[in-house]
Amino acid sequence: MTDTITLRRPDDWHVHFRDDAMLRAVLPCTARRFARAVVMPNLVPPVSDVAAARAYRERIVAALPPELPGAAEFTPLMTCYLTDTTDPAEVARGHAEGVFTAVKLYPAHATTHSAHGVTDIDRVMPVLEHMAGLGMPLLVHGEVTDPDVDVFDREAVFIGRVLDPLRRRLPDLRIVLEHVTTEEAVAYVSGGGPNLAATITAHHLVINRNAIFAGGIRPHLYCLPIAKREKHRLALRRAATSGNPAFFLGTDSAPHAVPTKETACGCAGIFSAPAALEIYAEVFEEEAALDRFEAFASLNGPKFYRLPVNERRVTLRREAWTAPQSVGEGDLAVQPFRAGETLRWRLAS
Ligand code: NCD
Ligand code: ZN
Repeated sequence: MTDTITLRRPDDWHVHFRDDAMLRAVLPCTARRFARAVVMPNLVPPVSDVAAARAYRERIVAALPPELPGAAEFTPLMTCYLTDTTDPAEVARGHAEGVFTAVKLYPAHATTHSAHGVTDIDRVMPVLEHMAGLGMPLLVHGEVTDPDVDVFDREAVFIGRVLDPLRRRLPDLRIVLEHVTTEEAVAYVSGGGPNLAATITAHHLVINRNAIFAGGIRPHLYCLPIAKREKHRLALRRAATSGNPAFFLGTDSAPHAVPTKETACGCAGIFSAPAALEIYAEVFEEEAALDRFEAFASLNGPKFYRLPVNERRVTLRREAWTAPQSVGEGDLAVQPFRAGETLRWRLAS
């Protein structure tokens, strides 16, 4: 039995850092484990131009504690929040200046802070055509917002209604279907060719929808896209551990302060950053696929994003430890995924 796992430093291809005090509280959890992170732009107001992304990147770098191992090398990769009025020239300039790594498409009102999202894909076609020419990835929150569609079906319906028609119109557009949660998404991405990829979160590999209602309602397990039936979780585990380069790590770690989760209308988002890498390692071990862990965590993402792989390494040791109960202080305290539970793999260096 292996007792240590050493791999190239992984990257988190989808994370929410927020801003100000919350940013300072949650950022070290990610920077300690990951070399780079694709930072979601759903601040209020959204990060939708080059100046805002540059300023946000500077705030992230300034929030890194200098003594934190890995802090000096940590690189936030910024994204542009796509709106109905995004100017293609602004996106191109952000790309050329090395500020925008990708563009994020939220269907309007699909999830947390998505009110400024896209109301109709036709409105953003000029931007998407431009991006296809640049080879710049579009990161898609793949859920329809139609209230007539059952919340558990919104991802599968999005593929047929929006994603597939878009890919037929613009086959050269490079797309990451973010945080996939269904066997339909796994099948679609598996057969999607070199311009399509998907991120998979740690929590969707661990919980199914029953977990949200185990013994009572569990607001800290509510996120979007919502966890689905067990057969979907199993499909995600097969995809993540398959070695297929179209699937890679993206935690969608999304911190919300406890009072905004434990309330009559709680926010969507699971905060997994304090133990995400360790949880992925558990999953790969359970699936007898530790030999494919590095591909999922550290190789497939850079390949799709056309970025170099990281040269430094990270080591996990087989050693029981307890995931933190809470991260952040006072009103901003966040309850992490698997808080207080014993985990098998511990970050060593
Ligand atoms: C995210 C958030 O809180 O910003 N929430 C979530 O449930 N995943 C938004 C998102 O990625 O959909
Ligand atoms: Zn997200």
